[in-house]
Amino acid sequence: MISTLQSRMLRGADGDPAPRLAFGADYNPEQWPRDVWDEDIRLMREAGVTVVSVGIFSWARIQPDADTWDFGWLDEVMDLLHAGGIGVDLATATASPPPWLSTAHPEILPVTATGETLWPGARQHWRPTSPVFRAHALRLVREIATRYKDHPALVAWHVSNELGCHNVYDYSDDAARAFRIWLRARYGTLDALNDAWGTAFWSQRYSDWEQILPPRLAASHPNPTQQLDFKRFSSDALKEHLIAERDLLREITPGIPVTTNFMVMGNTKGMNYPDWAGEIDFVSNDHYVHPGPQDRDELSFSANLTSGIAQGKPWFLMEHSTSAVNWQPVNVPKRPGDLARDALLHVAHGADAVCYFQWRQSAAGAEKYHSAMVPHAGADSDVFRAVAALGATLKTLAPVAGSERETASVGILYDWDSWWASEQDSHPTELLDYRQEALDWYSALLALGIRTDLITTRNDLSRYQVVVAPVLHVVPAELAKELTRYGEQGGHLITTYFSGIVDENDRVWLGGYPGALRDLLGIRIEEFAPLLDGVGVELDDSSTGTLWTDRISATDADTEVLVRYAGGELAGLPAITRRRSGSGSASYVSTRLGVEQLTRLLPRLLEPAGVRSELPAGLRGSVELTVRRGAGARFLFLVNRTDTSLPVTGLPGDVLIGTTGQDGALVLGPREVAVLRQPAT
Ligand code: GAL
Repeated sequence: MISTLQSRMLRGADGDPAPRLAFGADYNPEQWPRDVWDEDIRLMREAGVTVVSVGIFSWARIQPDADTWDFGWLDEVMDLLHAGGIGVDLATATASPPPWLSTAHPEILPVTATGETLWPGARQHWRPTSPVFRAHALRLVREIATRYKDHPALVAWHVSNELGCHNVYDYSDDAARAFRIWLRARYGTLDALNDAWGTAFWSQRYSDWEQILPPRLAASHPNPTQQLDFKRFSSDALKEHLIAERDLLREITPGIPVTTNFMVMGNTKGMNYPDWAGEIDFVSNDHYVHPGPQDRDELSFSANLTSGIAQGKPWFLMEHSTSAVNWQPVNVPKRPGDLARDALLHVAHGADAVCYFQWRQSAAGAEKYHSAMVPHAGADSDVFRAVAALGATLKTLAPVAGSERETASVGILYDWDSWWASEQDSHPTELLDYRQEALDWYSALLALGIRTDLITTRNDLSRYQVVVAPVLHVVPAELAKELTRYGEQGGHLITTYFSGIVDENDRVWLGGYPGALRDLLGIRIEEFAPLLDGVGVELDDSSTGTLWTDRISATDADTEVLVRYAGGELAGLPAITRRRSGSGSASYVSTRLGVEQLTRLLPRLLEPAGVRSELPAGLRGSVELTVRRGAGARFLFLVNRTDTSLPVTGLPGDVLIGTTGQDGALVLGPREVAVLRQPAT
């Protein structure tokens, strides 16, 4: 993966063989008159742009009707970029079908759970399972790939755009047909499906595959396993589309790497990216900040998780914003310094490219108030100056290109099945927020200055001294075994409420909760006791739990009670437990504590593993540390999480980027990022 990324994407089209960090944007020249293009190339060169993604929403321009192709303008754009030494990540242009196609074939339009059609007029109005759409999309891909296969500007393929951004859940008849095929492949027989779905309940037993539907609007809660399988199927349907485009591209241009931009951010949960990552030549991600109290922790979390999905290999930041977006309720601009800090925080977590949506801010259309590298004000603007300064910084950081993430001592396990299943309806509480719980543990570890990797079940757990698995709700038998083995071999597992409850078919592990993890944790729970919104319960370490409580019995002589409930019905009973097994341990936190209280609790939970911060005491909490490791060097990224200047002492290494005072000592300005290079031992 690195070699393709390094050899094509990072070199751009200027022939310079030295590895570097790529810099660029989505470039939409079709929105502008021809004379603007020359200025674009000039400014791109001035800013240090090395790569742009072209053609993402160009279908209607490239193919104005079913039998007409218009490539003249794109030929010219490709040639101009090449002459400017800028590489092209060429889109397959299939993200937004043109009006002629949706008019001729309204059967490609997605349908909601309530039976409404998603009409054309915006973008991504296509059913992932429509054979008609697929045929038209692949015809377009073939035309584009054949035309540009030998173009010297072409450095990578960009399949569609943010697959599933607006059309992940389609309940149409096409979807129903494809869902049945998917279910047949998963279960083989109707008996197996009836058993997995628990259709003895509410008279749901199926006697023919044709009776099965997507979980459309129903009289009450649709079958939970049907809902979970529909989520899996919907992710797989988009993945199939990705594979179909990819296969065609590989047939025509076997040497050009293929990617598609993921959306590992916020509450985008429809696409199981760990499962998609193996299908592309390098992972790309889009990320947008949602302003709020944990906004940069969330950025770090998403970038870190992208790195986990990429197995610690370098990845591509395909989109983020220079300043405000246009799609939040209120779109606030970034503060001075945010543009560089946000970009470099992605690089700290393994991005080998920093790209934006988009190059030039649109004058018309739904995104005209979305920031860009060249704003409405033009190049004589703070945003463009900050962009050009970042371009220069990325050049200085060229030695970082290709380096991988150095495994941390703590891993947070993030699991799509648990995310999907734990938040379904008809549960003990609808207030549970899977991602927020994981983010809170992450923020608490950041506050302690402890380097942490976000990982998925596809990463090797045994590399971590501590694995934190918040709300690990779905635990198939194999995962239970793996976690038990992890504990027996000296690993330290920390898990929480509503973990270990169901298997892969959302069927409860019987005999007392937390079912699959009961023996490992040495506890047993007979009944959940979620809390009403706004209600808190005192614990005897003076913290207050919310959302959830459990009536826990310790069932093993090695189970210690670390914290007890101090108030309410459960007063005196265990709230937080730990069972030691050999040199490992397994801890259970039965309530929601939030960032500050987790920060107080964590040192106790981490104590048996002996994990502590690698940062000097004065920087813990104020600075985020990440480490990338290359052939001969370690790169320490130090990110100032605060709005004040911080002197940095006690960390050896050459300053690759960063501000040094007169005495040569490093000072991290507000929100500033410094990178130190150390020899790799
Ligand atoms: C992304 C999308 C871009 C642009 C951007 C605006 O979701 O891929 O095309 O719409 O958001 O933030």
